[in-house]
Amino acid sequence: MSAIIFFKTANLPLIREFYQSKLSFSKFKDQESCVIFNLGNMMLGFCEAKAAEIDGTITIVYHTISQVDDAYNKHIDIALGSPEINDYYKIYHFWARDPEGRSLEFQCFLSDDELTPQISKIKVLNPKAHKHKILITRMIPDNAVNKLKNHFEVHVSQANRNLTKEEIIAEIADKDALLCLLSDQIDAEVIDAAKRLKVISNYAVGYNNIDVNYAKEKGIVVCNTPGVLTQSTADLTWALIMATARRIPEGERLVRDGGFQGWEPLLLLGQDVHGQTLGIMGMGRIGKAVARRALGFGMKIIYTNRRIPKLDFPAEKVDLETLMKESDILSLHTPLTEETYHLIGENELQLMKKTAILINTARGAIVDEKALIKALKEKRLFAAGFDVYENEPEIPQELLDLENVVLLPHIGSASLATRAAMGDLAAENAIAILEGKEAPARVN
Ligand code: DGY
Repeated sequence: MSAIIFFKTANLPLIREFYQSKLSFSKFKDQESCVIFNLGNMMLGFCEAKAAEIDGTITIVYHTISQVDDAYNKHIDIALGSPEINDYYKIYHFWARDPEGRSLEFQCFLSDDELTPQISKIKVLNPKAHKHKILITRMIPDNAVNKLKNHFEVHVSQANRNLTKEEIIAEIADKDALLCLLSDQIDAEVIDAAKRLKVISNYAVGYNNIDVNYAKEKGIVVCNTPGVLTQSTADLTWALIMATARRIPEGERLVRDGGFQGWEPLLLLGQDVHGQTLGIMGMGRIGKAVARRALGFGMKIIYTNRRIPKLDFPAEKVDLETLMKESDILSLHTPLTEETYHLIGENELQLMKKTAILINTARGAIVDEKALIKALKEKRLFAAGFDVYENEPEIPQELLDLENVVLLPHIGSASLATRAAMGDLAAENAIAILEGKEAPARVN
């Protein structure tokens, strides 16, 4: 969430020139009757007299349509009408008033895709090239699509957003294969709509988005992409460890905001990483890769895991209570299942050291986000570094408002090479099942 303060102007070109050239403000958006400048964490907007209803309009800017809808439901008592699209400004918004009658606007900017209703967002890349059809729910790297084109008639979404469940249902009936994202909910309703489906190939290692048991009941194979993203996810986990322990984003913000006054003895003091105890919850592929990197930092490694894993480095298996109590840095690497849902809640967080750091690059719902926010607010934890959230892409405002968190947009596997490798594996999974062969990575 950010905010824009709007002012009316009778001479937009003059104002645009003044703020841009004389004051060197950077432009965020420039339209015929309106210009918006970036101003640190705030934005400053100028609109031609007709366009701005009241001088000093305070516009609260969200990222998504559903966030604006949520704001509307929350503030319905002060709203002046329901949310609507404004095509000219490419926004979705509603108006309200503060107690002194100031004009408030709640909005999000819309992409062209959201503005232009399309009859079908799905493009067939090679019509009638093959008898079997695959649906790809969002554009993935070309190498995978090209591989699939040799075996399937490829139907791929062109939308610059995820398909809704209704859109997937509308497309799935005649498809033999589905290549989907971790954010697509492939539940019984979707599976029932699929009349010919043989394989669901998830473009992810985690598959908590798919009703795997129901798929099995219906004779549909579910596949995922393990292994190929292990090292990239471990790298990013370490980026979060270093960023939280040494307060790197806070330092960056300080410098950019002009707050760096020279070296200070007490400036941004963090926690050491070297020589500390690293706790790993879930010593699978990624857990091991994260732990191995800790050897270079001279760290002691403790972990929990359902089975006894084969390890080629020193590490001690402990129970959950010990893991929570003794970890200086605790990194989560379990899959999300019924057993791991909210595994880290109020009681577990209470056990952690005040100086400890919690890192989650696995799945958001392993942590009870409300309990975490409370612990961070009460400074019962030093910091948290998160790449995943309970209700992605929603992130509670209370979490966004905290300084002692580093928040990333689920980019654990987001390197060019890894996303290409995930694509190859997801394609190979679908092709193998189509050809009646053993899939390289089958889940059920
Ligand atoms: C996965 O594959 O499950 C990851 O979360 C994607 O980055």
